[in-house]
Amino acid sequence: MKIAIGCDHAGYEMKAAIIKHLQDKKHQVDNYGTDGLESVDYTDYGHQVCSAIESGKNDFGILICGTANGMTMTANKHKDIRCGLCWLPEIAELTKQHNNANVIALPARFISIDLAIEIVDAYLSAEFEGGRHQRRIDKIAC
Ligand code: RB5
Repeated sequence: MKIAIGCDHAGYEMKAAIIKHLQDKKHQVDNYGTDGLESVDYTDYGHQVCSAIESGKNDFGILICGTANGMTMTANKHKDIRCGLCWLPEIAELTKQHNNANVIALPARFISIDLAIEIVDAYLSAEFEGGRHQRRIDKIAC
């Protein structure tokens, strides 16, 4: 699993902890920034992560901003991206099982770093169930 990760200034500390966790578990992680606390636009980093997935360079993406709303909105503008906003491990599991999400967005200002890591692990352990869920996904584009 080649994982892409990106954040704005609100998600920088959470991102650093998630990268360490994933690298400790021997995952390949490509970091698309930002890499500091200076105020930036979440869109710049969200688009980079999603483009890397659409190009096939990365398999799955993690986006982090204050609420996760801006990153989710940005990501879901990409044709081949399905991004789920995740604040609980169960939501992350279900967004893979039912929505086949290839990106998750985490709200750094509303969840702890420990919970964020549990969410990432829950996503990585889950599998898409296909069937009726694929039929529904096929109806998302308009
Ligand atoms: C940054 O202040 C904040 O707007 C951003 O992190 C995010 O919450 C946007 O949706």
